[in-house]
Amino acid sequence: MTDKAFELVVFGGTGDLARRKILPALFKRFCAGQMPEPSRLIGAARSDMSSAEYRRFVSDAVAEFGGAVGKDELAQFLRQITYVPFDARGDAGWQELAEMLDPACIRAFYFSVGPGLFKDLAERLHAHGLVTEDSRIVVEKPFGHDLDTARALNRVLCSHFDERQIYRIDHYLGKETVQNLMAVRFGNMLFEPLWNSQYIDHIQITVAETVGIGGRGAYYEKAGAMRDMMQNHLMQLLCLIAMEPPAKFEPDAVRDEKLKVIRALDPVEPHHIVRGQYTQADGCAGFRDEVDNPRSKTESFIALKCHLSNWRWAGTPFYLRTGKRLKNRDSQITVVFKDTPHSIFGQDAGRHNNELTIQLQPNEGITLDVTIKKPGQGGMQLIDVPLDMSFAEALGPGADAPDAYERLIMDVIRGNQTLFMRNDEVEAAWAWTDPIIRGWEARGDVPKPYDAFTSGPDGALQLLRRDGREWRGIDG
Ligand code: BG6
Repeated sequence: MTDKAFELVVFGGTGDLARRKILPALFKRFCAGQMPEPSRLIGAARSDMSSAEYRRFVSDAVAEFGGAVGKDELAQFLRQITYVPFDARGDAGWQELAEMLDPACIRAFYFSVGPGLFKDLAERLHAHGLVTEDSRIVVEKPFGHDLDTARALNRVLCSHFDERQIYRIDHYLGKETVQNLMAVRFGNMLFEPLWNSQYIDHIQITVAETVGIGGRGAYYEKAGAMRDMMQNHLMQLLCLIAMEPPAKFEPDAVRDEKLKVIRALDPVEPHHIVRGQYTQADGCAGFRDEVDNPRSKTESFIALKCHLSNWRWAGTPFYLRTGKRLKNRDSQITVVFKDTPHSIFGQDAGRHNNELTIQLQPNEGITLDVTIKKPGQGGMQLIDVPLDMSFAEALGPGADAPDAYERLIMDVIRGNQTLFMRNDEVEAAWAWTDPIIRGWEARGDVPKPYDAFTSGPDGALQLLRRDGREWRGIDG
């Protein structure tokens, strides 16, 4: 397919997200030939710098975060970059921006700024006549702080743009392995017939990080793991694992099915929620120091057990957990199948479950645990062996997955909203999240301290042990 020329205006073009993700991602797509002339990247920010200075900024960002960089390619890429200083809340820069844009190109306005500026940007884009039929906006998370703020934000954006022009990013949806969830489920005959509560005992989703909250204390103290990760990234993973097959791999078909999953979620019982906060470890500050609040009640870890009230999943628990400063960086989904209804080998042979593990990061791959006979004498003893497929080994060199942002930015340009969240989806996710947060606030719950670089608070282990189950993943 020949790509159409586009102009990507990055508001917040000198910010951290632009430096680490957006600029290096666009450079890679440029190298792949997907930024045909006269396509341009226009950085827009408050700083009063020239285009030449901005090009140096982009060049540094690409060198630092863009992997191996060819000098010639970088030089050519930089030629397609311009900068305009602007004021999101005033008039400065808007006229210049309007004059710069080419009416023949697709326009994408990336709101890589704090959510407090979204409304101003949306209003000024219209006031200055920058929005064409072919324009779209890209909005980063956090998309609201709760249901009310998310609704208010949707109202503002939807009053200026059609839903088809609004791209709400959840970068987990751009990850290659996350999309693989759909390929595994809907591209194979093998799993789907068994994909329900009749055959599946339970499903676990773990997104564990070793990093702390770093310099994001002010934001994180207000958000916590529930708002920062659970309400969006883990919720999206749950949707892809639990949804019905959409009729087509098309935006609304996929998003309709995801929405049904979120709406089928039961409220979560207080004793099915475990929150934690990491303490100081060798050389690393504790959470309360990092957020500069010795009495902080914000969680850096959350685990919960939830249920979906629908035909497919009634009776199958989903255990979700995510946290910072954990033992390993490890994101995986494990589908634990039920035991066979009857063992022909007798009790002594041992009982085993099949397990399908989808390793999202790092070391992307899929493992299926299969029960076989333990080799050797001594009667029929059963053991589990993994059918193990690492994507890197199976697909070989050159099969490197593009960064999530590469895919998502190009989807914006191509007008494909499949991997972006729709307004009703975001609101439904908050409608489920809000009562959980309100519940622990009303009870005055304080997160349990956990040692940094462990698997989180003990209560999270007990959450499964009470049900006769164990977490997979970071705990080995
Ligand atoms: C972001 C969260 O959305 O996702 C961060 O705000 C988190 O707190 C990050 O660290 C994790 O993303 P990834 O791609 O590193 O798994």
